[in-house]
Amino acid sequence: MKNLPVNDKKKQAQLLRKELEKHNRQYYVLDNPVISDDEFDSLYQKLILLELDTPSLVDKYSPTQRVGGEPLAAFTSVDHLSPMLSLANVFNGKQFADFHNRVKQTINISNIDYFGEPKLDGLAISLVYEDGKLVRAVTRGNGKRGEDVTHNARTIKAIPLTLTALAPPTLLEVRGEIYIEKAQFERLNQRQKAGNKKTFVNARNAAAGAVRQLDAKVAASRPLTICCYGIARIENHVSPATQQDSLQLLKSFGFRVSEDTVLLKNEKECILYFKELAGKRQSLAYDIDGVVFKVNRISDQQLMGAVAKAPRWAVAFKFAAEEAMTLVREIDLQVGRTGVLTPVARLQPVFVGGATVTNATLHNFEEVARKDIRVGDTVVVRRAGDVIPEVVKVLFDLRPAEAIRYEIPNELPDIAIEQSIKKVIHFVSKKALDIDGLGDKLVAQLVRKKYVVGFSDLFNLKKECLLLLERLGSKSADKILLAIASSKQTTFSRLIYGIGILGVGEETAARLADSFDSLEKIQRGTIEEFEKIPDIGTVVSQSIFDWFSKAENIEELDNLLSAGLVIENSHNSEKTIDFVCVVTGSFDSMKRSEIVQSLNTIGIRTANTVSRSVDFLVCGDSPGSKLERAHALGIRLVYQDELMRLLEQKAIGKNSIKAFLEGK
Ligand code: IVH
Repeated sequence: MKNLPVNDKKKQAQLLRKELEKHNRQYYVLDNPVISDDEFDSLYQKLILLELDTPSLVDKYSPTQRVGGEPLAAFTSVDHLSPMLSLANVFNGKQFADFHNRVKQTINISNIDYFGEPKLDGLAISLVYEDGKLVRAVTRGNGKRGEDVTHNARTIKAIPLTLTALAPPTLLEVRGEIYIEKAQFERLNQRQKAGNKKTFVNARNAAAGAVRQLDAKVAASRPLTICCYGIARIENHVSPATQQDSLQLLKSFGFRVSEDTVLLKNEKECILYFKELAGKRQSLAYDIDGVVFKVNRISDQQLMGAVAKAPRWAVAFKFAAEEAMTLVREIDLQVGRTGVLTPVARLQPVFVGGATVTNATLHNFEEVARKDIRVGDTVVVRRAGDVIPEVVKVLFDLRPAEAIRYEIPNELPDIAIEQSIKKVIHFVSKKALDIDGLGDKLVAQLVRKKYVVGFSDLFNLKKECLLLLERLGSKSADKILLAIASSKQTTFSRLIYGIGILGVGEETAARLADSFDSLEKIQRGTIEEFEKIPDIGTVVSQSIFDWFSKAENIEELDNLLSAGLVIENSHNSEKTIDFVCVVTGSFDSMKRSEIVQSLNTIGIRTANTVSRSVDFLVCGDSPGSKLERAHALGIRLVYQDELMRLLEQKAIGKNSIKAFLEGK
C-alpha cells in the first residue's frame, strides 16, 4: 500500500481500514487473497496500535471491531422491513412443471427466464444497511419479526460492515444464508475433539447455534460465512431489473454471492441445471438441499406476488431424501398428539440426511404388517431435512432367522392412560382452550389420579383436588382455577381443534367452524358436506364424521356445555369486516354493483381507491390505472374466474376467504 501520511493519524487510520477491508473482501468474499496472512496481520496490528494510541479514532465499523464485545443480557426482537418469506417445495419434474404453468398463466409471454441458484442449507438472515453501514442483522423468526443478532453478524468477515459504493442506497435490506463450508466444518469438529468438547451433528446446527447466541465470541470462533441471494428493499438507488442484476449489484456492494447461479431460458434448462447441481452436490464446498428457481424479471415477480408464506414466483426443487441402511432393534408404541398409537422403530443409530437417526415412525399397525418390518431386520431409512425419518423398506435377504414378527400388544393399560393424558394436554393447549398454567406434568397427575377423565371434568375441578397434587400451592391452584374458568368462553374453532379429531389441525378446525355455525350442524353433517370444504379430503371427512358418530363423544360435548362452556358467536351472527377490496373493470357475467353486493354480504368491504390497506383487487376487463397501482403496491389480484369460484363456495367465512386469497 501507499505510504501512510506521517502526521495525520486520522488519515492513517482511514487508509489502513480501507486497505484491510479490501483484503478482507478478497479473502472472505471473493475467495481470492492477494496478500499473505502475515502481511494482513501486520497491517491489522498497525491499525490496532493506532486505535489504542488514539482511542478517539476507534470507529464501530473498523475491521478491528469484528471481535465480539461483552455478551448481551437479552435478545431484542424487531419487525422485518418486509416479511421474510419461505419457499414452496417441489420434489419432481411434474410438480416443477405445475409451478411453471402457474407462472405462465400470470406472465403472458412465451419465454420466461428463470434464475437458478443453489439452495444453501444454513439459516436465513436479513441485513439492513443505512447510508452504506450495517445497522441490523435479524434472524427470520416468524417471518414478520425476528431476533436482532447484529452483534454476531458483525463477527462474520464475509458480511461487509460498510458497502463499497460511492453513493450507497440510503436503505438496503439484503437477504442471505449464513452457513459453514464443509471443509471448515470438518476442521471445526476436529478442533472440538482435540479440545475434548462435544462435536456438532452437522454444519447447519453449528451455524444456526452460533448465530443465536448472546455472546458474540461464539460466532467469532466459528467459521461462519454467508451467501446473499436477494434484495428485499433498496431506497434512493437504481433498482435492479432482474434477479441476476440483483446479485451483480450485491456483489459490487461487497457481498458474497454464489458462483454457481445461472440464467435459464426455459423449463428444459431448469431441469438440466437441477440435474447438474444434483450431480455436483457431493463435490461442492457447501451443503445444499436443492435448487431454487426464481422468475428472473423483478416486474414479473411483482405480477406473481405471494401467498401467505411463500412467493409465487420462486420454488425450491428439493433433492430426494437421503437413504441409509440400519438395524431395527426394537419396535415400541408411541402416543401421539390426539392420543393415537404409533408404532416406532428403535434403530441402530445411523447418520443420514445430516443427522443421526435412532427412531423412525412406522405410521400405523397396517404399515408394519404391509412392509413386514420385524425386530432384527435390516432396513432402509430415509430422512430429508427436518422431516421425520421413516422406514422405506426391509432388506429381506438380510433377515436373520431369529427376526421377531411384531405383535400388537393385547393389553394397553398404561398406554390408555398416556392416551388420555395426551388428549387433555391437547385440549388445554395454546391453540385449543388455552388454559394457562396447566402444564403437561399437572395434567398427567390429574389424569393419573382420575380427577380428570373427560374434558368436562376440568371445569368441575375442586381446589382441594388441585392441592393434593405434587408441588402445588394455594396461590397456584387459584390461578389455575381462574384460567380454567376464563377458558370456558371460547371460540367454535378452538373447541373443534381441542377435541382432537384425527386429522383436524388448527386450520381445518377453523374451516369447519366457518362452514358450520353450530355444534348441532356439524353433528348432522355428512361426509359429502365435509368434503366440500376446501382442503378437507375424504380421509379427514370420514374421520370428522366418525368422531361425531360416537355416542361417548356427543356425551362429552354435552357435558362440556352443561359444565358452562360457552361458544362465542361466530361470524355468521355477528358479521365483522375482515377484508377490503377494490373492484375494477367490467365483467361478463355480473354487473359491478352485483359483485360489490355479493362481496359485501360475505363480509368483504369494497373501497374505491387502491391503497396499502386493500387486501385484493377484483380485476375485470379493461382495468386501467387501478391495476397499475395494485401492481406497484404488490396487491393480490383476483380475476373473474377466481372471483366466481370464491362466490360459488357454499359457506364462506374469514378463514376460507383467507385461504382463498393465499391460493390454497
Ligand atoms: S430465496 C422470497 N434463495 O431457503 C424467497 N432462499 O426454504 C425467499 N435458501 O428461508 C428465499 N438458499 O433460508 C432463497 N438461493 C436461495 C436460498 C434460499 C437457501 C433458504 C432460505 C429460505 C429457505 C426457504
